[in-house]
Amino acid sequence: MTPLWKLNPSLPKGTPFTPGARHDVVVVGAGLTGLTTAVMLARAGKDVAVVDAGGIAELSSGGNTGKLSLLQGQQLAEIRKHHSASLVRAYVDANRAGMQWLTGFADDAGVPYRRRTDHSYATGPEGLEAVMAVYETAKEAGLATRMLDAGDLSTVGFPATRAVALDDQVTIDPVLVAQALAQEFLAAGGTLHTGIRVTGAHALTNPRVTTPRGPLFAEHIVLATGTPILDRGLYFSKVRGMRSYCVSFRIPGAPPEGTFLAVDGPTRSIRPVAPEDGPAEVAQLVVGGNGHPVGRSDGETAAVDDLIEWTQQHFPGAEETHRWSAQDYESHNLIPFVGAMPRSLGRIRFATGYAKWGLSNAPAAALRLTAEITGTPMSDRPRWMKQIATRVTVPADIAQGATEGGKVAAAATRGWLAAEKNPVPVDRPAEGQGVVAHRSGQPVGVSTVDGVTRAVSAVCPHLGGVLDWNDAECTWDCPLHASRFAPDGTRIEGPALRDLTPLPRTKGD
Ligand SMILES: Cc1cc2nc3c(=O)[nH]c(=O)nc-3n(C[C@H](O)[C@H](O)[C@H](O)COP(=O)(O)OP(=O)(O)OC[C@H]3O[C@@H](n4cnc5c(N)ncnc54)[C@H](O)[C@@H]3O)c2cc1C
Ligand code: FES
Repeated sequence: MTPLWKLNPSLPKGTPFTPGARHDVVVVGAGLTGLTTAVMLARAGKDVAVVDAGGIAELSSGGNTGKLSLLQGQQLAEIRKHHSASLVRAYVDANRAGMQWLTGFADDAGVPYRRRTDHSYATGPEGLEAVMAVYETAKEAGLATRMLDAGDLSTVGFPATRAVALDDQVTIDPVLVAQALAQEFLAAGGTLHTGIRVTGAHALTNPRVTTPRGPLFAEHIVLATGTPILDRGLYFSKVRGMRSYCVSFRIPGAPPEGTFLAVDGPTRSIRPVAPEDGPAEVAQLVVGGNGHPVGRSDGETAAVDDLIEWTQQHFPGAEETHRWSAQDYESHNLIPFVGAMPRSLGRIRFATGYAKWGLSNAPAAALRLTAEITGTPMSDRPRWMKQIATRVTVPADIAQGATEGGKVAAAATRGWLAAEKNPVPVDRPAEGQGVVAHRSGQPVGVSTVDGVTRAVSAVCPHLGGVLDWNDAECTWDCPLHASRFAPDGTRIEGPALRDLTPLPRTKGD
């Protein structure tokens, strides 16, 4: 499952690690949030180190669909359901600032991109109300949207009855941008450590991050790790990790010119690929969708197969070139969390909850984190930055959190009960499969990948969720707060910081 964008990356590997080194700022995570923050801080004259457990754009930042849009499907209308018009406008302004920063960076760095019209569309009559809500909210927020009817949409190639259109949005190769960000950062004298997992962050007495190779000290720490890796403030429970799928295709004929996101029915995110915004010699169309909370799915491979079937139905002759999946986090109050962690004396900051709109939300978060760290006076900060910084929790947030909390609790109970009922299998799982069973009352995960059968503890080291096998990625995924692990137990992502315990295989597993 390799993203189309990662075919020929020549991504910087980083610089040697010196335990105990001291920097102005340590940024954990080399995705879009970490890299944009690091570049902005380096431009402001700060000595910055970026540390990533994997490489550049390892996770979501390298596995998205590369749409940079202020329309954002139904996101604005969803925010408006729970918040004031003025907060929606601040959210749009923040994303506009993020978009302008990223396209400005791309212009300077010579990263190509393409301007396209983005659409939030209805597939049938059930979606008309949702399209109208998007139209009205976008207008209220000052976006120059247009309404399209079925006639206007007759050439797109898939069912679309009505759409809101916003011109001049952007498609870009997300890995090319990340690569250029890393290059500018290194050229400015930044320090980049890849392949090093951060295992802790401490504000007192000497602010530092810890790693298996030793600590790094800093005045400020930024956790740009998707969901934050510290439990402080319980942000892992205030966001929901959503996994979703992308497939790229070579198709006969020309792909649609614009980008599209369905507001009704199963999610379909449609994104053409041209030489300016992706490896068009390989694929001409990306179709994404079928998202679900991490670890809570009836079949990840089936989700991918469904996208392929849909595409081949509407673009006959479409040939799959690549498939991949990734996850991003939604905040319960629909506005990203950005800022200082509680009880960190303002030394540990984080950003998360972009709801799959990180290409603009991540640079917006970086603008705010940079303003805070460099001490930009409040009076010099833009209105959106001040307004979002001072927003308060509204009752809707609490309701949303309670609903998700209930689902998390149900998933926790279900996992333990299912494991209890399932004795360790007599046969090895088939290639690419994994099962959770019980051994002496403890859930154990047994999987076979590349011919190797392994057993690991199926209990998440974060807070004890029972893991679920992801048959598309061949990983163990946690249904509680979205941590993921390789078949040998190595932690991949999420709030868990430790690996799963490998277990000896016994007769039967
Ligand atoms: C399927 C999909 C499609 C999407 N499409 C779009 C789109 O079209 N447009 C758009 O705007 N957004 C899109 N998004 C959202 C976007 O990709 C994300 O919002 C964005 O990439 C998040 O960036 P990030 O840097 O915060 O997180 P990530 O990219 O996840 O980066 C986090 C980094 O932290 C590192 N890390 C984690 N834990 C540790 C640790 N303990 N120690 C060291 N390093 C650690 C990871 O290795 C990783 O590199 C999409 C998301 C998905 C899932
Ligand atoms: S991620 Fe929290 S219990 Fe697994």
